[in-house]
Amino acid sequence: MLNETFKLEKTDLGHYVVVFFGPVAEENLPQPGQFYMFYKEYVKKPFSVAFLKENRLFFIIKKVGPFTSSIPDEVRVEGPYGKPFPAVVTNTFLISGGAGIAPICFLAEKLTEQNLPFTWLHGESKAENLILLDYLPVKPNKVSVEPTLVTDLLPKEAQFYCACGPKPMLKGLHSKWGTNGFVSLEERMSCGFGACYGCVIPTTSGYQRVCKEGPVFEAGELLWQELCV
Ligand SMILES: Cc1cc2nc3c(=O)[nH]c(=O)nc-3n(C[C@H](O)[C@H](O)[C@H](O)COP(=O)(O)OP(=O)(O)OC[C@H]3O[C@@H](n4cnc5c(N)ncnc54)[C@H](O)[C@@H]3O)c2cc1C
Ligand code: FES
Repeated sequence: MLNETFKLEKTDLGHYVVVFFGPVAEENLPQPGQFYMFYKEYVKKPFSVAFLKENRLFFIIKKVGPFTSSIPDEVRVEGPYGKPFPAVVTNTFLISGGAGIAPICFLAEKLTEQNLPFTWLHGESKAENLILLDYLPVKPNKVSVEPTLVTDLLPKEAQFYCACGPKPMLKGLHSKWGTNGFVSLEERMSCGFGACYGCVIPTTSGYQRVCKEGPVFEAGELLWQELCV
């Protein structure tokens, strides 16, 4: 488990910034879907790993508020935290939207390493954000830009899926394809390691912590009506 301060290398892409640090020791490497808490003074925020290069950890961060719009040059980092996507999935559809691209890219990278087939669909709100794709080690098979939604790209027949993105995207996916898959949730977090219960969501087995029992959940475990209000 990492708990140390790193100098960050950053590439500003307008609405996104690609950040990396490391290398880190083998035992501190994450699995797809796991996340690290980045500190800025007393505030800490969760970010999922997007890909690895020579044990350096790369993150894709969307500028949405004070932390993400002004990422410090050095941060204390804790992690990896959380439950990852299943290690082996085959013939799966990977569905990502916006900053949800990070954990899905990492999953695509791992599946590629194992020669496991997948189809990756990604949705962006603005065409100018597509520059981000140039920085990825694996590319989506198809990309949508609003007003086309990534859920408009889904084949009619429901497929097994692994997904991460804004709740309206996950809701659209669930209403078209049902619960045969896994989703990674980006709930607001405080502690990040299970202590504060600030990130709970309703599931079929009661409230669960996104940082501890998630962020990856079986889609069938979630109470979709309550989750997407
Ligand atoms: C497990 C996990 C992994 C994540 N991985 C990434 C990642 O790889 N890349 C990335 O860019 N972001 C990721 N996030 C989201 C990121 O941590 C938040 O967007 C963070 O709060 C941004 O901090 P901020 O201070 O910049 O903006 P804030 O002030 O926290 O938020 C700015 C705006 O975004 C809205 N907002 C913030 N968080 C949420 C939320 N969870 N749900 C709905 N609206 C929200 C706020 O209402 C506000 O309008 C992840 C979140 C989780 C839980
Ligand atoms: S953020 Fe504290 S329990 Fe999840």
